[in-house]
Amino acid sequence: MSSHAPRFISFEGIDGAGKSTHIQRLIERFTARGAEVVSTREPGGTELAEALRGLFLHAAMDGLTEALLVFAGRRDHLLKVIEPALAAGKTVVCDRFTDATFAYQGFGRGMDLAVLGTLEQWVQEGRQPDLTLWFDLPAEMAAQRRAAAREADRFEQQDLDFFERVRAGYAARAAAAPQRFARIDASLSVEQVAAQIDAVLEARGW
Ligand code: TYD
Repeated sequence: MSSHAPRFISFEGIDGAGKSTHIQRLIERFTARGAEVVSTREPGGTELAEALRGLFLHAAMDGLTEALLVFAGRRDHLLKVIEPALAAGKTVVCDRFTDATFAYQGFGRGMDLAVLGTLEQWVQEGRQPDLTLWFDLPAEMAAQRRAAAREADRFEQQDLDFFERVRAGYAARAAAAPQRFARIDASLSVEQVAAQIDAVLEARGW
């Protein structure tokens, strides 16, 4: 791999955007190039954070409680998994990270973005993904895909307005960090989405 090898890559997007197939594909691409890849997710990624995930997805709570739980899990995840993997020269591929908190708890639930920003600083101490692949598509199309796919958790039961707010949250985070974010048009076919991701990676020499 080149010296500009990606180290920490996150996948983001509203529920039903179709990240899973492409996460797997990305891992295979890097593994084939000789990288040691750690595949993980949020909420979750450690025993403690996975326990918090269960509460987060299924117990009723307000937006601040959601944010505190998800950042508590994130701290554990960073200390036990992400930072050690990066220090060992591994590539970390994470299904969702802090952009999801801004999008869901901030824009979706209306949590104060400045409070989220403070938590982000405390918990991450400057750590951010090197690349965030944002799967963007209209909320209505994502809802149709979800309906075909699986039983809904607490977030997936929200209405279209909620998901359009979450989508706007991702757009705002992308505008604030254009170097880190790559927007992927997730309304297209699996092949077309894969081609967009390949183009992003190739443009970075990865
Ligand atoms: P995800 O693992 O993508 O769901 P699934 O296993 O169904 O594909 O994400 C779980 C849900 O948690 C998703 O609806 C987004 C939400 N979420 C937040 O609200 N805030 C966060 O900070 C994170 C990481 C996820």
